[in-house]
Amino acid sequence: MYAGAKALFFALSRSASLKRLASRYGMAHEDSFARRFIAGETVQEAIAAARSLQGRGLLLTLDYLGESVRTIDEASAATREYVRLIDVIVASGIERNISLKLTQLGVDIDRATCVDNMRRILEPAQRSGFFVRIDMENSSYTDLTFQVFETLWQQQYRNIGLALQAALRRTEGDVQRMNELGARVRLVKGAYKEPASVAFRQKHEVDAAFLRLMRLLLDHGVYPAIATHDESMLAETRNYAAHRGIVLDRFEFQMLYGIRRDLQASLVAAGHKLRIYVPFGRQWFPYFMRRLGERPANIGFVVRSVLGERRS
Ligand code: FDA
Repeated sequence: MYAGAKALFFALSRSASLKRLASRYGMAHEDSFARRFIAGETVQEAIAAARSLQGRGLLLTLDYLGESVRTIDEASAATREYVRLIDVIVASGIERNISLKLTQLGVDIDRATCVDNMRRILEPAQRSGFFVRIDMENSSYTDLTFQVFETLWQQQYRNIGLALQAALRRTEGDVQRMNELGARVRLVKGAYKEPASVAFRQKHEVDAAFLRLMRLLLDHGVYPAIATHDESMLAETRNYAAHRGIVLDRFEFQMLYGIRRDLQASLVAAGHKLRIYVPFGRQWFPYFMRRLGERPANIGFVVRSVLGERRS
């Protein structure tokens, strides 16, 4: 079921007609279904959402949605958008932290182009004190992502970090590699449909790996981010930190915009740092489908929202 739902929603995410339908209804109104997970299609909407999160004591990272671009021009356009986003964030006064995907910056086309695009973003980001997190995409990109990351690290960019996925069998080695570099990791379970040869398929296996990696990061990592909405993962992390005497500002939790807002409030009240990943932009469909794949029950509110709109 765990891998099955992801596979189903992955297949649906490639349907052009479903994408057209979703694009028509998903963000049309204030209460349209995609708005639960996506802050808006414009940067102004994202900044407004970020301000409101900051007002509740939350940290944030902004993600300009987009992935799998096919041409150098598209990759350049996405790079320019990120450079513009940096200026807008600075002008707005919100926290300086962004997340991005390498397939948005042309890694599929040519690795050197992608490294150049990253540098075009990292230069102004570094000057203005931003942290830049590289999201991890499906397992066919893990090596490439590391290659780009390590090239940039060797070029002395230090305002960068990577997301690593507990679902992949290789990740323990990757966590050790990042710990040795002294580079920051965001630990996630993994959102992609993966073959059993490279990934754990059962929830209990992924959860066990997540906890092993969490301990490795808390003991030896540099300011790790433990990114999950799973109450048992959160409780185990808090217990482990308390047991090892790890103070609360040595790590942070992270959650996705719109998910488990109840837990967000209780973690902040308990003195934890909690960063919210705030996605925005017009290319929201694949991101949205991954959120449905994680929790098929979400389909219920989509159906209700569309039926409601058609009646109104
Ligand atoms: P799990 O899926 O077991 O869910 C635990 C509970 O959380 C559920 O019972 C439910 O209550 C709630 N929940 C989880 N997902 C939900 C949803 N979609 N809708 C409603 N409730 C939901 N992945 C990746 O492959 N690469 C990446 O770079 C990132 N980046 C990233 C950043 C941040 C800040 C977060 C929090 C997550 C990611 N992810 C990611 C996604 C991650 O891999 C994973 O798919 C989701 O976080 C869901 O897994 P949980 O750890 O929440 O556990």
